[in-house]
Amino acid sequence: MAVTNSLIEQKIKTAEEVAALLPRNVTLGCSGFTPAGYPKLIPVAFAKRIEEEKKLGEEFSINLYAGASTGDELDGVLAKTGALKLRIPYQSNSHLRNLINQGETDFIDMHLSHVVKYIEHGILPKIDAAIVEAIDVTTDGKIYLSTSSGMSATYIRNAESIFIELTDTHPLELKGYHDIYLPNHHEKGLPINIITPSDRIGLPYIQVSPDKIKGIVRSSTPDAATVFKTPDEDCQNIAAHVLSFIQHEIKLGRIPKEYLPFQNGVGNIANAVLASMAKDPNFHSIQMYTEVVQDSVFDLIDAGKLEIASTSALTFSEKGLKRFHENIAEWKSKFVIRPQEISNHPEVIRRMGLIAMNTAIEVDIYGNVNSTHVMGTSMMNGIGGSGDFTRNSHLSIFMTPSLAKEGNISAVVPMVSHTDHNEHSTMIFVTEQGLADLRGCPPKKRAELIINNCAHPIYRDKLREYYENALRVSKGKHTPHDLEKALSWHIQFLKTGSMK
Ligand code: COA
Repeated sequence: MAVTNSLIEQKIKTAEEVAALLPRNVTLGCSGFTPAGYPKLIPVAFAKRIEEEKKLGEEFSINLYAGASTGDELDGVLAKTGALKLRIPYQSNSHLRNLINQGETDFIDMHLSHVVKYIEHGILPKIDAAIVEAIDVTTDGKIYLSTSSGMSATYIRNAESIFIELTDTHPLELKGYHDIYLPNHHEKGLPINIITPSDRIGLPYIQVSPDKIKGIVRSSTPDAATVFKTPDEDCQNIAAHVLSFIQHEIKLGRIPKEYLPFQNGVGNIANAVLASMAKDPNFHSIQMYTEVVQDSVFDLIDAGKLEIASTSALTFSEKGLKRFHENIAEWKSKFVIRPQEISNHPEVIRRMGLIAMNTAIEVDIYGNVNSTHVMGTSMMNGIGGSGDFTRNSHLSIFMTPSLAKEGNISAVVPMVSHTDHNEHSTMIFVTEQGLADLRGCPPKKRAELIINNCAHPIYRDKLREYYENALRVSKGKHTPHDLEKALSWHIQFLKTGSMK
């Protein structure tokens, strides 16, 4: 049965009524994280209003902030209106991506842990309206979020008005999964008191003054379900290299036998690593301190190998969400959902000594990583939390298949066409071909390891040729490059459709 109380009844509105209240030049702070728990009805109604009023000559300008990526009913519909001028800090919607890459919409690609301070210090335009998805609101203003925390608490704290999409798509047992805690950015910081992933330091709700809530819209629209592919052979080979490397580190005493908490990035490779861990008899139960939990967590639970997963979002497939709902009461001790400033906080990541596993678009022979830009200029999704985790974890592993686009692209290139994670932060590289441990290696040794262990055989000789020529022609012999040819692979792909 839908939740109700006097506050909800007093504030209830249709999505169209809320859309009519939004200013034409507006900064929206929305819930939603990869893409779980984002508002769906108000943005769709707002987009409809924009289309209608544009025909009458009205102009709109929207700055859209969310936790990370959201679904088509938020990013997609607003992008299609042509009114979306600015988006932060991460996205993965194809319409929006096209606008960004056509230069129509500005996108600020930010470390997720930095967003809070940029908002609180007024560096970014101030938020007019926060629109968040919640499962309940009490008469005294306690907002219980749905399946993500992301930036919601900060957007709510800094918005002029709050609008809530009250969803009945999740059981009320979801209450208690969240741990909402935000440091005060105007004061000298106290330590964030998280020592292990299961520690709770905040509240299960966001407290607001009920006066600030200007409308509540009932919703029965679920999140767009995430679709995960069955791990292919490359993903499984990557996972096998990662797991045997972790066992190797345990043998050498660099990772304790009880492990360190794992952070696991988005996508199919990340899923494959956890699924393999669940199957592998050499692995016992793990703890996760990560920003997004996907379906592979069920493999761990089924194998009795998940102690706790701290995350900023639960991003499940349709089938996965059903399983989650069936077990929601029992699994409360298995998950903590935190604001992204805390899930991605450098202090906590460094203290716990995480093992971070993220996916790269391309890596270069010296260990620089591009996670965001295709051919140096086109935005894919954004850096997300990969920088927060890469820079601060005990161990940082980057994974990618060695080839993309039917072999026409080598993921190992002479020089990355854009740098998100530089050689000073990156440590371990894995492709289906093998693993390169770059820790403690000077640049020339790194080049040898990456070319020999990670590059695909069809590009290995070409990489060696580049490197040997660079050794000859480079003025500086510390990190040899032939600057005239360093980006020639990308240029060749753009001209001919292949790096071969
Ligand atoms: N050059 C050009 N395109 C490339 C490429 C390369 N070197 N490597 C991959 N691609 C393309 C793929 O072909 C695919 O294209 P398609 O959508 O047209 O099929 C697309 O990039 C995505 O690749 P895919 O293999 O499906 O990987 P993925 O879904 O695992 O995503 C990233 C990989 C890097 C894009 C993704 O992990 C990401 O956005 N990372 C940055 C954020 C992050 O790491 N967050 C971590 C904390 S959760």
